[in-house]
Amino acid sequence: MSALVDKLKALQAEAEAKLSGLSTTAETEAWFRDFLGRKGALTNALQGIGQMPTEERPLVGKVANEVKVALTAALEARQATIADAEMEAALSAEGIDVTLPGRPQNVGKIHPSNAALRDINAIFTQMGFQVYDAPEVETDEMNFELLNMPDGHPARDMWDTFYTTTPGVLLRTHTSPGQIHAMREYCPEPIRVVLPGKCFRYEDVTARSEMMFHQVEGLVVGPNITFSDLKGTVVAFANQMFGEGRKLRFRKSYFPFTEPSVEVDVDCVLCGGKGCRVCKYTGWLEIMGAGMVNPMVLANGGYDPAVFSGYAFGMGVERSAMLKLGVDDIRYFFSNDVRFLERVGA
Ligand code: PHE
Repeated sequence: MSALVDKLKALQAEAEAKLSGLSTTAETEAWFRDFLGRKGALTNALQGIGQMPTEERPLVGKVANEVKVALTAALEARQATIADAEMEAALSAEGIDVTLPGRPQNVGKIHPSNAALRDINAIFTQMGFQVYDAPEVETDEMNFELLNMPDGHPARDMWDTFYTTTPGVLLRTHTSPGQIHAMREYCPEPIRVVLPGKCFRYEDVTARSEMMFHQVEGLVVGPNITFSDLKGTVVAFANQMFGEGRKLRFRKSYFPFTEPSVEVDVDCVLCGGKGCRVCKYTGWLEIMGAGMVNPMVLANGGYDPAVFSGYAFGMGVERSAMLKLGVDDIRYFFSNDVRFLERVGA
């Protein structure tokens, strides 16, 4: 056996040993250059074949070919294994990690006006009031006339509104026309309802007044309803809505549809009673108008004022929400600023 054959076998063994230790495609390419390339070890080993005795040459040639075929096959197998491993690694490095937390959904919040409406409704329904729905588009008759404000009545100036192109049809300036709807539906039964909803006023928009806002009207009608019932209900409401111990003030006032009439103030939380632009530097914030239902209005609703009496109130929902949330400008409520809605929404 020629020494060259032994050298070829040794070369094959060395190449196979090295190959099995390789782990990257780049390493296998270098290995190919080292052993099987044009200037590789196998070519080098065969350079002496010309000086060999002629009869030995076929054997050496055959062995050299076998070594080449075997090493080429081994290289392909190794490269396939490495390619699989590299693919695996790339997939697990770049693939989707199903254990990562998902992208947060943008969950909306309840608008502060609606949150306050719900709070107010909850407090009154707990006291036995029903929630009654009344229209936002009203007639002049409902919004003014039947509430004791005939055409030309000076009090109409307090409630300038938006008129539609249909004569006599307008956007309601307060929830009070709902009193007439409720009375006409329930008469002659006693009534205990709240009427929440939107109101509209044609007036300058300032820190404390918007041209659209929400009110909740309250109406109680029955035999022997007195001013004490009104006061007790309002105090109970304020303690639940604004917290026990808040100061309340009943000021005499005037509304054509109530007699006597009051306005109810709560001490201003925004400035702690010291005075700020929201409370007009008085330390008090008006939250509602109220009074005993005017006998004319009871009669317009179908009730006999000699038998029935009642009280009514109308409160500003945003005013109440401002007090509760410490917001100092009503214009935030409808300016659609997401930062505000996220901060104070429920
Ligand atoms: N409707 C009155 C307003 O908008 C409030 C009110 C309601 C007053 C019921 C008395 C009774 O100012």
